[in-house]
Amino acid sequence: MGFSKRIDQAIAAAIRSGQAAPSPGKLASALHYTVNPGGARIRPTILMSVASACGDDKPALADAAATALELIHCASLVHDDLPCFDDADTRRGKPAVHRAFGEPLAVLTGDSLIIMAFEVLAKAATIDPARAAQMMIVLANRSGMPNGICAGQGWESEDTIDLSAYHRAKTGALFIAATQMGALAAGQEAEPWEELGARIGEAFQVADDLRDALYDEDVLGKPVGQDDLHGRPNAVNELGVEGAINRMRDILSGAIASIPKCPGEAMLAAMVNAQAEALTPLKWRAAQANRVPGE
Ligand code: IPE
Ligand code: IPE
Ligand code: MG
Ligand code: MG
Repeated sequence: MGFSKRIDQAIAAAIRSGQAAPSPGKLASALHYTVNPGGARIRPTILMSVASACGDDKPALADAAATALELIHCASLVHDDLPCFDDADTRRGKPAVHRAFGEPLAVLTGDSLIIMAFEVLAKAATIDPARAAQMMIVLANRSGMPNGICAGQGWESEDTIDLSAYHRAKTGALFIAATQMGALAAGQEAEPWEELGARIGEAFQVADDLRDALYDEDVLGKPVGQDDLHGRPNAVNELGVEGAINRMRDILSGAIASIPKCPGEAMLAAMVNAQAEALTPLKWRAAQANRVPGE
């Protein structure tokens, strides 16, 4: 079975178990609404690729890890869109959860998905208690304080932002969780995989800055121009479009060079390149190259 089918099936099973009767119907619907249709599912795909490159000897553990990671990511987006954060009306091309279900249910949806993520990992302890415990620690570390998404979001309430700490925590953290949990699921040490996750996260941040600056809401499925609106620093403002694309390519070559020795090293390098192709606004660049001057 391909990664994306494995990921979708494992997420669907977790959501179903969270909807069991008797449960409040609207909150149960909001859980499903939040994870379907999914976004790019880039984090669980990276996690599965690393697990597979390391042998994937206990696939049910990798399935649990991928599910937990994506649930945390989806929860973070629900909370991020709330009026007290970014006050966004749309997400993945449809009304944000708080617009579709109201604020109280959006808060509860995020909370429920975070708790569900750790429940999925706790249940996976029956497969391998030591690996599951290590994965829980990594996921907690990269979701909360002081290194995780909470820290990243928290920087936005400071008077002055440490930009690299902000990006590392807000965006990089879950990519580090992806590579490390993939390795742990397959019985490998987590530490050698931190650099790859950090570099992919850094490249993703630049790609996100490019998309925010270049795309419109129809293409992106969420509000654009957000960095300018909130006065947040952005790689495109700093380097220009071509500069930001080149910066992203440099970071990705570093990412490929940092892949630890493992049986699936070549496959992982191909995966990083494929994700980069998917993320970079190459269509924009091609359109610029073909543009007739004056048009
Ligand atoms: C959006 O992440 C949030 C950021 C960290 C910029 P994604 O672009 O991975 O969102 P989905 O899951 O594909 O919608
Ligand atoms: C959202 O970050 C990612 C989280 C860590 C919650 P942003 O606010 O920068 O991303 P979008 O534009 O809403 O996806
Ligand atoms: Mg935000
Ligand atoms: Mg936002």
